[in-house]
Formats: sequence, C-alpha cells, structure tokens
Amino acid sequence: MMLIGDPVYKSMKIILLLSILQYLHLAYGSVNRCGSPTLQRCFCGHQFFDDKSMFVVNCTGLGFKNADMLNELTEDTEMLVFTGNHIGTLPSNVFGEGRNMTKLRIIDMSNNGIHDVKGKAFHHVVGVTRLILNHNNISISSEEERNFHHPRVFSNFFNLEELHLTNAFADNTDATLADDLHDIFVNSNLTKLYKLHLEQNEIKNFKDDRVFCDLPNLHDIYLGNNNIPSLNFNITCLPKLRYLDLERNNITKFSQQDLDRFDRLAYPYRSINNNLTLDIDGNPFRCDTAIKNLYNWLHKTNVIIRDKDTLQCHQTKYGTKYIMNLKNLAESKHAKISQALTILLVILVLILLTLLGAYAYLKKGSMRGRFSPLLEAVSRKVHYNKIESQDV
Ligand SMILES: *[C@@H]1O[C@H](CO)[C@@H](O)[C@H](O)[C@H]1NC(C)=O
Ligand SMILES: *[C@@H]1O[C@H](CO)[C@@H](O)[C@H](O)[C@H]1NC(C)=O
Ligand SMILES: *[C@@H]1O[C@H](CO)[C@@H](O)[C@H](O)[C@H]1NC(C)=O
Ligand SMILES: *[C@@H]1O[C@H](CO)[C@@H](O)[C@H](O)[C@H]1NC(C)=O
Ligand SMILES: *[C@@H]1O[C@H](CO)[C@@H](O)[C@H](O)[C@H]1NC(C)=O
Ligand SMILES: *[C@@H]1O[C@H](CO)[C@@H](O)[C@H](O)[C@H]1NC(C)=O
Ligand SMILES: *[C@@H]1O[C@H](CO)[C@@H](O)[C@H](O)[C@H]1NC(C)=O
Repeated sequence: MMLIGDPVYKSMKIILLLSILQYLHLAYGSVNRCGSPTLQRCFCGHQFFDDKSMFVVNCTGLGFKNADMLNELTEDTEMLVFTGNHIGTLPSNVFGEGRNMTKLRIIDMSNNGIHDVKGKAFHHVVGVTRLILNHNNISISSEEERNFHHPRVFSNFFNLEELHLTNAFADNTDATLADDLHDIFVNSNLTKLYKLHLEQNEIKNFKDDRVFCDLPNLHDIYLGNNNIPSLNFNITCLPKLRYLDLERNNITKFSQQDLDRFDRLAYPYRSINNNLTLDIDGNPFRCDTAIKNLYNWLHKTNVIIRDKDTLQCHQTKYGTKYIMNLKNLAESKHAKISQALTILLVILVLILLTLLGAYAYLKKGSMRGRFSPLLEAVSRKVHYNKIESQDV
C-alpha cells in the first residue's frame, strides 16, 4: 500500500509537476510563435502549402466572436487561415493601424458569418495573391463605407491573383450585387487578377455587361450555380480568358452571335494551344431549333467543352436528350417530314386520278367520238398482229 509521504509518491508528484511545467513551456513557446497571447489557441508555425514552406497562422473553428486579435498578428505571417468563427463584421484595418503585413500571401476568411465588410478593411496587404471569403453572408447596402458596397474594398490588393467569393453574399442580394460588382472591379485596380470565383451567388443579370472588362489579366471565371439566363456579359474584352464556367445556370439557348464570340477565343483566332475551355453542363437547354445550332457548333468548334457528351436538352415532347446524339432527333424529324410529304403526294395523285377519271367519264361520249377512228385502227392492227403471230 502506498502512503502519503512515501518517497515513491513524492517522486511521482515531482514528475507530474515537471510535465506540467513542460506543457506550460510548450504552450508558452506556441504563444511566442504566434506573437501574442490572444492568438495562443491558433496554430502558428511553418507548413508546406503549394510546394512552399510558409509561416501559417491557423485559427480554424475557435469560436472567435470578433477579429480584434488579428491586430496582433505577427508581421512574419505568410498565410492566415481564419475560418469557421462567427465575427459578423470585418472592421476597418483588420490587421491594425500602421502595421505592414508585407509578407502576407494568402488570406482565408471563409465561413465566418461575415455580413459587413467595412471600408479600408484591408490595408498594407500589397503581397497578398489569394483572398478567400467563401461562405459568408455579406450584405449589400447603398450606405457607403458601411459594408461591402464600399467600391474600393479590394483596392489595396495590388498583387491579387485569386479572388474567391463562392457563396460569399447574403441571399436575395443578386440584383444589387451584380450592380455593384463592376464598380468594385473598376475601383479596385485588380490588374493581376487571374482567377475569379463567384459561384452560388444567385446572380442573374449584370447591370453592366462590361462587368469583367476592367480585369485585364482575367484567365478563369467561375460562375457555376447561379441563375444566369444567357451570355449576358462581354467576354470579347477579355483577351486572356481561358476558362469560363457557366455550369448549372438558367441558360436555355445560345444565339449564333454567342457561339461566334466563343469561337473568337479559340484557334484560329488564338494560338493553337490557347483554346477557350467552356463548362455549360447542367443548363436547361431546350431541344428546339436553336439546339440544332448548338449541336452543329459542338461538332465543329475548337472551343473545348467540358463533359460535351453528357450535355442534355429538354422538351416535353422528346424528354431529355443528349445533345451530341441529337442527330437521331434531327433525322427522325426529317424522316417524319418526308413521310408526311409522301402521304400528301399520294393523296394528291389519287385526287388527280379521280378528277381525271371523272372528267373522262363525263366526256365519255365526245371522247369516244373523237378517238374512235384511232381506236379502230389500233384494234385492227392488234388483230392483224395476232393473226401474224399465230401464223408463225
Ligand atoms: C487549419 O486547421 C484546421 C483544424 O485545426 C485544419 O483542418 C486545416 O486543414 C488547417 N488548414 C491549413 C491550411 O493548414
Ligand atoms: C512596408 O514594408 C515595405 C518593405 O518591407 C516598405 O517598403 C514600405 O514602405 C512599408 N510600408 C509601411 C506603410 O510601413
Ligand atoms: C444572413 O444575414 C441575414 C440578414 O442579412 C440573416 O437573416 C440570415 O440569418 C444570415 N444567415 C446566416 C447563415 O448567417
Ligand atoms: C493600378 O495599379 C498599377 C500597378 O499595379 C499602377 O501602376 C496604377 O497607377 C494603378 N492605377 C490606379 C488608378 O490606381
Ligand atoms: C465587348 O467589348 C469589346 C472590347 O471592349 C467591344 O469591342 C465589343 O463591342 C463589346 N461587345 C459587346 C457585345 O458589347
Ligand atoms: C429561369 O428561366 C425561366 C425562363 O426561361 C424563368 O421562368 C425562371 O424564373 C428562371 N429561374 C430563375 C431561378 O431565375
Ligand atoms: C485547339 O484547337 C485546335 C483546332 O481544333 C487543335 O488542333 C488544338 O489541338 C487545340 N489545342 C489544345 C491545346 O487542345
């Protein structure tokens, strides 16, 4: 039996104390790496990301209710992952007044229930190449400086290459959002922006069809899972456009003009290895005359169409069809038409014959009179022929 005051018990107590101290030391070390006690629950340290070792501060799912602790973010931070909290408002100068986050490359603030982005929220972020604000609830209002409407919200991101705004906005804001997007892009001078994600934002129409025209380096536009009804924005002004995602929108058809515009972004208008890639799967295309246009285009265009073979069109009469197999539909339609024409022709011929018969019957008397010498001559000749042949 072990007793209190036992030397074994004493040594265990010492070991326990030592391990607590060691734990505290580790925790203290972590605080140091994060540079601040307010960030101590975050992971701070080097991590491989995109084949590079980066100093990462990762504050995922820590229940933060505001972003105040980001004032204390060390200037060594190269990647900030601040996701799954609930901060509501992104204040002005998120990283603190007069601080210089020149090493920061990636900011991920997804899934934080952000509804307000204050003007000048991001300052001194010249090095940031990727900003991720997916799955937030950002609202649009006409009150300047109050929230995302602030048209210069991304204006300090001189080197931004990727902007991720998938499901970033509050529902039912599509109209105002689409109105504001162009203002935001015009005023933000995002001359290096390469990739733009705007999926799942209920976008229908853009107030200005030149909405993306002020993003001269734009290569990839992701607009999947919106409610866009047609090619209602200018793509001709984007000489570098390489990938356009229009998956699962509300497009029923493309006009010939639209198809020509796509073609202009592929060989021979562009170099042979620079063909546009287009994703139009999951749209409610109609199996009508316009689809024949699309069918023909799909078979001859140099634009690369993702999932070309599973593209479908719908019509109550024909159900759902694979557009690439539409030939059958077109052929059977042709067949039906020619069948109908044949029947019509037969009927017409029958009518004609009947009419001729009736005419002949009515004019029987006069006809017999007129033709009888001829008929007699013929029958006589037949008669002679018969006799002759019998002679042989
Ligand atoms: C950040 O931390 C969370 C959980 O702690 C982890 O799931 C996630 O992968 C981390 N992110 C990065 C980029 O390391
Ligand atoms: C930020 O740091 C860069 C270089 O590290 C320097 O050129 C720049 O002037 C600094 N800006 C501010 C506002 O401190
Ligand atoms: C988003 O914001 C609206 C009000 O702007 C609110 O009604 C809604 O509950 C919010 N949704 C989430 C998921 O936070
Ligand atoms: C836009 O940014 C470029 C550098 O990226 C700069 O030269 C130009 O002056 C800026 N234009 C405006 C209007 O801020
Ligand atoms: C799209 O923009 C280009 C370049 O600015 C312009 O030439 C063209 O006319 C525009 N197209 C439409 C349909 O507005
Ligand atoms: C999709 O387009 C149809 C008309 O083609 C329209 O009736 C419908 O409201 C649109 N759906 C959405 C979600 O915009
Ligand atoms: C672009 O299209 C041309 C013509 O169809 C084709 O020869 C070429 O291989 C395509 N380029 C790529 C990278 O697919």
